[in-house]
Amino acid sequence: MTEMLGEHDLDDMFDIDGDAERNGGGVVDDPYPIWAELLKQGPVHKGGIGGLTGRENDRGTMYIEGAVHYSVLGFAGVSEVFTRKEDFDSGHYQDMGTFTDTILAMDGSGHRRYRDLIQEHFQPAQASGWWRENVISGLVEELVGRFDGKDAVDLNSQLFARLPMQTVTAGFGLSAQEGLDFRKGLLAAMNHLTPPQEKMEQMQAATEILENVIRERQTEPRDDVISRLVKAEMKEEDGTTRLLTVSEVASFCKLIVFAGGGTTWKQLGITTFGLLNNPEQLEAVRADRSLLAKAILEGARWYPNDPVFARKAMRDTELQGTKIPKGAIIHLCLGAANRDPARWENPEKFDLFRPVQRSLAFAAGAHSCLGQHVAREEMLGAINALLDRYPNMRWDPSMPPAKLSGGLISRGPGPLHVLLN
Ligand code: HEM
Repeated sequence: MTEMLGEHDLDDMFDIDGDAERNGGGVVDDPYPIWAELLKQGPVHKGGIGGLTGRENDRGTMYIEGAVHYSVLGFAGVSEVFTRKEDFDSGHYQDMGTFTDTILAMDGSGHRRYRDLIQEHFQPAQASGWWRENVISGLVEELVGRFDGKDAVDLNSQLFARLPMQTVTAGFGLSAQEGLDFRKGLLAAMNHLTPPQEKMEQMQAATEILENVIRERQTEPRDDVISRLVKAEMKEEDGTTRLLTVSEVASFCKLIVFAGGGTTWKQLGITTFGLLNNPEQLEAVRADRSLLAKAILEGARWYPNDPVFARKAMRDTELQGTKIPKGAIIHLCLGAANRDPARWENPEKFDLFRPVQRSLAFAAGAHSCLGQHVAREEMLGAINALLDRYPNMRWDPSMPPAKLSGGLISRGPGPLHVLLN
């Protein structure tokens, strides 16, 4: 039986508006109409996405003090920035001081060599094989099983917030409590309100949790990702190979436990929100489960949980007709790009029947999301289990209506109150 998380702390850690405050930008009602208007005026604008969205004081949105900022909103422009690796790199992560020692902040052959080491554990076959069989199915069974005997639940806090965090935690071989303590420390270290000294201490404490588990697995390996990483052979530029150090393994874990636990919960809620608000689409999925994969892709296009990322210009260059100076920070508005009317008809509508076209929810190019297939398996597992057990599941009319909320870089649902029977 997989270890379950306790009740404490979860509400606070998986609160979408709390996320917005922690990121430093605060809650934003609905940025999409403003982004659509900006895109109508042009694909590239001078200024950070915070200021352009009418939030001049928003310093949380991947804003780098002292840098010139540009924002890209069209599908073609955002795709270009992700893939023109000779012009744009991930140097902004170094400037932001977050995840500086992880693959997210690396570029070129260093990024490739490190990513190659971990990628094999996240391929589609691994996601629908090892991850689903050893981790996801059991967790879904237990979490949805807790609904037995209940008529009404909040899907967000009781299922969606828990499953992704527990999936990465268990997949990496951390105990549920270690995973929770790690995430708490990391969130405190990244909170813009935490004083600098405390940030360092929190990051150190979070890293220590990981390093202790890594040392244990070096002597007593198990069937988990950390045990595989401690045995993985890193190929250096000169062709020699070596094992990863404890702190290199910890860097992988830090990023993945954070990225895996902090994203899919929102996307699970967004897809479910889209389906429950469109009963004819929900009915179609109930009748033909092969449509669920399309609904998941459409949810990620329509409302990507993290709608803004960034890159740094490595040289003076040009983007979609706009000159960009070396050193500029480019805000990539995936949310706007995923609703570019040049690519999608009625882009603001959640419609799983639209022709499938790749969106940018999982980025593109060298840094495209490593965990996207695992995320997909989690979403398929959880929503299928709900539809199997509760064919009559619907919004609970006695509770406040569900809504999508958050800040500019992290969005998703608050409570999702449903009647099960
Ligand atoms: C629906 C859920 C998810 C979404 C929408 C998402 C989205 C993204 C995006 C947009 C990026 C690109 C970041 C950049 O280039 O700056 C990214 C990178 C990444 N994601 Fe995800 N992600 C999700 C789930 C996951 C999961 C479940 C994991 C791990 C289990 C994960 C691990 C990663 C990692 C490690 C990277 C960095 C890849 C690299 O730099 O080469 N993600 N993700």
